[in-house]
This record gives sequence, C-alpha cells and structure tokens, in this order.
Amino acid sequence: MSALDVRMFTVGPVQENAYIVRASAEAKRAVLVDPGEEAERLLGAARSLGVEIEAILITHCHFDHIGAVAPLARATGAPVYCPQLERPVLADIMKWVPPTLPPGFGPFESYEAEHTLAGGERLSLAGLDIDVILTPGHSPGHLTYAVPSPTHPALLSGDVLFQGSVGRVDLPGGDWATLERSIEGLLAAYPPETVVYPGHMGVTTLGRERVVNPFLAEIRGRLQRAGVSPTPAPAS
Ligand SMILES: [Fe+2]
Repeated sequence: MSALDVRMFTVGPVQENAYIVRASAEAKRAVLVDPGEEAERLLGAARSLGVEIEAILITHCHFDHIGAVAPLARATGAPVYCPQLERPVLADIMKWVPPTLPPGFGPFESYEAEHTLAGGERLSLAGLDIDVILTPGHSPGHLTYAVPSPTHPALLSGDVLFQGSVGRVDLPGGDWATLERSIEGLLAAYPPETVVYPGHMGVTTLGRERVVNPFLAEIRGRLQRAGVSPTPAPAS
C-alpha cells in the first residue's frame, strides 16, 4: 500500500512550515498547504518533485501562512481554499499586518480565494480525501486538514498544536478555552499515531502531545475520565 508523502518547507522570517502533500511518493498531483513565504522556492520544490499543484489549502490567514498564496496561485493556476471567516484577511492582507513589523516582512499580495471552507467538508483533491475540521482558538476561522490513511493518518493543523506547545491566543480573535476545545476534539477524534504536521516547529504525533505537552494537562484529565485511550489502538 502506498504511503502518504508529506514534504515540509520551513519558510520566511517567522519560520513557518509549508507542506506539499501527495498520495504517495510516485503521485504526480499534490496539494500545497500554507505557502507563507518563498514562493520561488516552493515552486522549485514542486518542479523537483515532478508534481502539479492541484490546490492551495490555507489553515488560517495570519500573514506568515498566506504571504506566498497569490504568486503561487498565479504560477500554478491552482484554486485556493480559504477559511470562510478569514477570507477578508486574504483579500486585503496588508490591512491586517501589524504596522510595527520589522523590515523583511512583506509587502504581501492579497488574493480572492476561489473556495471558502467552514469545516465539515470532505475534499477530494490530488487523489486524496481530505476532511476539513473547524479548529478555532488561535484564530477565529482556523481549519485543520485531516488526511485519513491506514498507514499514515495525518493532520495539517496550522497553529493549533505544536511539539510541546500550542498556538498563541493573544492575537485578535484568539481564545484559550476555544483552542483547548479544538485540541481536545482532535485528540478524541483521531488515533494517537496520527502524525501532526504543524505550522511551526517539528512534526509530532497526537499520542506524544497528549502524554508530554505541558499545555494539555487539563485535557489529559478530561480524556482520561471520559475513557479515551492514550495508547495506540491495535491494528485491525
Ligand atoms: Fe498563526
């Protein structure tokens, strides 16, 4: 059985993780997630892999995740899927960029997304089935993209959950209780071996974060009381 192939590219001054995702290492079509910066580098990577970018998916519209959307959409012709609530941000990026940012950030080109997503959709793109989950808390319309796979279930989770940390909640629209609920929902819905491809820092798994992430102490207690197992489910 072919395994999902996920390539991470850490881009820009905020070191944001963009991803090229395809159904297998041989697949010729891919989706591009959160192209935040370095459009030419991401385009070159797609060319080197020999893949056509079939769609651009956005987890949320903070500038470090969307800065390269417009040039990449233009270069590839791929439609852009944007969180519904945050579409106005993508459509006028610089209006939302803090004026205090140091030199080296932007300017970013705005983009009118072809599609908006509210969560609850299932997309079929590049030979992948992708479930769209609303995971607010870091930003109001934040989405997580889940790619089910018997061998390699994956979450492209933007700034929800990091290796040993969580997304910040002090930006406009952020809220800790909401983020906690989003994370708890992911932990309850997906098996511990699910690989988490976050918007910053390294790749991890849901099971690892449930056990060691210091920000998830209360969630751990609640899941334990609810009987949601922290250990990987036996293979069926
Ligand atoms: Fe963010």
